[in-house]
Amino acid sequence: MCGIVGYVGKKNATPVLMDGLRALEYRGYDSAGIYVAGRGALKRAGKVAVLADSLPDDFEGTLGMAHTRWATHGAPTEQNAHPHSDPTGAVWVVHNGIIENYADLKASFLAEGVTFKSETDTEVLACLIAKAYTDGVLLEDAVSDALAQVRGTYGLVVASSREPEKLVAARASSPVMLGIGDDEYFIASDATPILKHTRDVIYLDDGEIAILTPEGYEVRTHTRTKVEKPVETLEWDVEAAQKKGYEHFMLKEMMEIPEAIENTMRGRLLPGVGTVKLGGLESALPDLLSAKRIMLTGCGSASYAARVGELMIEEFAGLPVEVELGSELRYRRPTMDPKDTVLFAISQSGETLDTIEAIREAKRHGVRVYGVVNVVGSSIARETDAGVYNHAGPEISVASTKAVISQMTVLALIAILLGRANELSQTEGAALIKELERLPDLAREILEKREEIHELAKRYKDTENAFYLGRKFQCPIASEGAIKLKEISYIHAEGYAAGEMKHGPIALIEPSFLSVVLVPEDSMYEKSKSNIQEIRARGGRVLAVTTEGCEDDIRTLADDVIVIPKTHEAFLPILTTIPLQLFAYYVALERGLPIDMPRNLAKSVTVE
Ligand code: G6P
Repeated sequence: MCGIVGYVGKKNATPVLMDGLRALEYRGYDSAGIYVAGRGALKRAGKVAVLADSLPDDFEGTLGMAHTRWATHGAPTEQNAHPHSDPTGAVWVVHNGIIENYADLKASFLAEGVTFKSETDTEVLACLIAKAYTDGVLLEDAVSDALAQVRGTYGLVVASSREPEKLVAARASSPVMLGIGDDEYFIASDATPILKHTRDVIYLDDGEIAILTPEGYEVRTHTRTKVEKPVETLEWDVEAAQKKGYEHFMLKEMMEIPEAIENTMRGRLLPGVGTVKLGGLESALPDLLSAKRIMLTGCGSASYAARVGELMIEEFAGLPVEVELGSELRYRRPTMDPKDTVLFAISQSGETLDTIEAIREAKRHGVRVYGVVNVVGSSIARETDAGVYNHAGPEISVASTKAVISQMTVLALIAILLGRANELSQTEGAALIKELERLPDLAREILEKREEIHELAKRYKDTENAFYLGRKFQCPIASEGAIKLKEISYIHAEGYAAGEMKHGPIALIEPSFLSVVLVPEDSMYEKSKSNIQEIRARGGRVLAVTTEGCEDDIRTLADDVIVIPKTHEAFLPILTTIPLQLFAYYVALERGLPIDMPRNLAKSVTVE
């Protein structure tokens, strides 16, 4: 949510920053701006391309910073775009996060006669820094003084006209990393703008401030204590974060699903002993395996993966599992007993603030927290006691595809691990692992049918309303299918437990209402078939997803049928998700929508 990139070095900063903004655009894309020392700032409403088109040729310099925005305070206008400055233009700031007490601070400035150009909290921050930046004070000290007065979250970069060779970065709950090159340094809110230039990075922690000049960098606390930070190596390569000839990142990332499943499982399956090895959880194993209650948390698609995980763990380990949204968990009366409860936080980006706050709440109660995270070195990876990396590779499109599939795959592994410590025999474990090994190929088979799904999308692209229905393991996938359609096609869609239809929602069924029914051959097959009949009896249209062997049966009931391969009931969600993602993609394509960057959304939601 909002992207930041900064550069200090010998090169022309402008192309580095503009490239960085393009790489970061998936984090926010309603307006963008750039500041280059000696040239000042340029901002535009709209996509990064609009800013790029209006850049004068001589907008050059060797230090600068840029920002792509996802509006929180104030509409996505040029005035509200970052960078922001104090009225004199001495201090410039790009900022991710929210300054919670900005209204009070702004009121004091207004009382002093200061006028503001924007409605943002960030402009207030610029004024606060400028106020502390009196003669003889260094920029980093002014930043620390100003930040001592604010409440809220920030990842920010500050530049000043008085010290044009310096950038200052600071972090509180919103990610900031430094890229360490040869005589050049980068700052970014995630790795994507840095990858092209260097793999050596430093992750700032909350309460730290970094000072970068062409001569080097220093990280310290706000009380001016120097911090020695380890330089870590980024795993992802530049290629992985590019479209590789696909029209959209979303399509490319769906085509990578088989590989993502393979990479998620690589080196982790132990078929001989019917269990799995999760290196990241090794140190936590005794505690984890003695847990009597498992909690899972996450937001959006990650929360649906968690609900699949809940069923898997209950099925294989017989343990009670509770899933709670990250945005809700922290507000509940805590009933987690640290003696026997563990929490898994699931997040592709590792930066979702609601999930981070849920982790912090659990930790306040002494509960051990483990992460299921795709982005190495992300905040959740570092705030959890241990965890499992997805290894799904970078996911750029806002709608999660391969990452959510990888999350379910990790949860399947965790379920087997917990199962083997509880009810699951070695033979049963080995059979499950054998089935997991088949999944990449089965996913490939589904992806090969994408043109067939494209044809169906053409047929249904003008639908105004859709239900996604499923039972048991398919119930969370109904929600996942619906959120995909909503996110990128802007079609009203709801995921429902199929059995709940008759308790109210069925009143909505009429001939133009589409129901996508998940009816694979599983323990719910007959019951789900009855749901199709109920809908058809009321004139509704049905698109069914079923498994091989059932297609003839289902064709007699549904208007259209997508057929996928069979697997174990608990792993079917991993497969049924794929046609639903493809369907949403092709519907959005047919409607001519901006698939990778849908309106109002952002990939990484770092505000509560
Ligand atoms: C945003 C994205 C969703 C994603 C959710 C959780 O809302 O648009 O696609 O599922 O965040 O993201 P996370 O990075 O925590 O998995």
